[in-house]
Amino acid sequence: MSVATACANIALVKYWGKRDALHNIPAAGSLSLTLDRLRTWTEVTRVEGAPSDTLTIDGHPVAGHALERIRRFADLVRREVGDSGAISVKSQNTFPTAAGLASSASAFAALAVAVADVFGLKMTESELSILARRGSGSAARSIFGGYVRMQAGVAEDGADAYASPLEDIDFPLVAAICVARAEAKKIGSTDGMKHTRATSPYYDAWIRQVDLDLEAVEAALRSQDFERLAELVEGNCLAMHANAMAARPGIVYFRSSTLWAIERVRTLRAEGTPVFFTIDAGPHVVAFTPPEHLNAVAQRLTGHLDVAEVLTSSVGDGAHLADAMPEIS
Ligand code: DP6
Repeated sequence: MSVATACANIALVKYWGKRDALHNIPAAGSLSLTLDRLRTWTEVTRVEGAPSDTLTIDGHPVAGHALERIRRFADLVRREVGDSGAISVKSQNTFPTAAGLASSASAFAALAVAVADVFGLKMTESELSILARRGSGSAARSIFGGYVRMQAGVAEDGADAYASPLEDIDFPLVAAICVARAEAKKIGSTDGMKHTRATSPYYDAWIRQVDLDLEAVEAALRSQDFERLAELVEGNCLAMHANAMAARPGIVYFRSSTLWAIERVRTLRAEGTPVFFTIDAGPHVVAFTPPEHLNAVAQRLTGHLDVAEVLTSSVGDGAHLADAMPEIS
């Protein structure tokens, strides 16, 4: 049995588009901050003689597409080591999955570490990042803690498409996550990217912009230029959404609470609080701010009818093995 844990991450420069869907290789790089509030614990056990893999998430047995995704992921490791043994996967999240918060990043990063371990496959961190990427692109970044940069690489098989930690950045930021009320089915990232790439007239411009934003965001982090960082991160987020909205038919992840929170963040900044927002493929707004402003920011993001709760998070560490699953209430 192997247990691993990993945190989710939120991208400051977004991944939205693949150059190869089969190997799950991104079309451009991305840059993120790992968050400790959004954590997955995963226990993987070999089940000798079992006919197939099984999956439990937060205590509920899961079948269908999610199980198939796990099976195909485990096959990558099974093929590598020449072992066809079935596994049982138990996964627990420390955040409300029903709310549709990003969970594939922490899930596949933890799974990569646990599955490699259970089959005795020794991997470097770059190799683990590549493996996690095959499960979900954003998971490649969750192998590492803190600020992380993902490179798209040029190799056809994705051998150079992995993430690395950004060393020597002294820019402490924490996050308030404005969780919108759970909604009915939305378009997931994988399908959303595919549809955007196929039909959005802005797609090529978006990919070109990401390369510029990556360099500029890394430079703003290194020079501790908050205003510049705020402008770049919000710009990159809105460009990603504009690109998705311009697809035919357009994909709109925003809800009324999303626009409300954007407005609040910008008002706070205009009043002098250093804070900026970003938004993934859903309605939740994540506000980044230095630690001393976190409580005030979280408070200002509370109060909309469609905001279920505001979670606060500090910086998370990289994916790693653990002794046992914790008790999560
Ligand atoms: C908007 O990593 O979920 O959160 O590789 O298809 O699993 P797949 O996509 P996924 O996409 C994340 C999209 C995003 C931006 C980001 O995290 O960079």
